[in-house]
Amino acid sequence: MADDNVFVFDHPLIQHKISLLRDKNTCTKEFRELVSEIAMLMAYEVTRDLPLQEVEIETPIAVAHSKVLAGKSLAIVPILRAGLGMVDGMVKLIPNVRVGHIGLYRDPVTVEPHTYYCKLPEDINEREVIVLDPMLATGGSASAAITYLKEQNIDNIKFMCLIASTEGIERLKKDHPEIKIYCAAKDEKLNDDLYIVPGLGDAGDRIFGTN
Ligand code: PRP
Ligand code: URA
Repeated sequence: MADDNVFVFDHPLIQHKISLLRDKNTCTKEFRELVSEIAMLMAYEVTRDLPLQEVEIETPIAVAHSKVLAGKSLAIVPILRAGLGMVDGMVKLIPNVRVGHIGLYRDPVTVEPHTYYCKLPEDINEREVIVLDPMLATGGSASAAITYLKEQNIDNIKFMCLIASTEGIERLKKDHPEIKIYCAAKDEKLNDDLYIVPGLGDAGDRIFGTN
């Protein structure tokens, strides 16, 4: 389902797995596996417009005029920590993908994002970049990550998350109107602590077994 630049994946397999992910009784092992699997299923659609190039392949029968992914096509940039949980699923589908990392945490009091780490592939400016984070709550972290990447002259950026709040989507649309946002579910509101309701709780804590 698409609305402007916002794509909500209503595929039954994704919706089923999102329900399991929301369940507070889902254990760390299962939670990790689900995050990875959903990311892999979403990657299939998010990469739909990757550039291709023509190649000739010799089949056992004849020469086929076929297509493969063009050169330096893609990089993914998980927002640490929780975005790390989505990397494995993407890499399974696109083994040659380059992976950058950006570390942001949301200050528990001010909820302002702080950058504490960034390491990007050298040729990232030549690639399409998909920023990964399971949660888009106020949108502060995603917006700050994308601003940072734009400051590094990266201009071909998409954002992919599992659960997005209406507020987070509006914030990203306002700060970065050209960015396509992909999510598996859209939740209406945030609570007083700025957690997504109903959401799934703290994604980082549930992936890494901390709290
Ligand atoms: C979570 C989440 C996002 C951010 C979303 O990370 O993974 O990065 O909060 O909130 P926002 O949209 O209001 O910015 P958190 O800051 O808890 O860090 P963590 O990944 O280390 O747990
Ligand atoms: N970060 C999370 O992990 N969950 C939320 O609901 C909001 C921010």
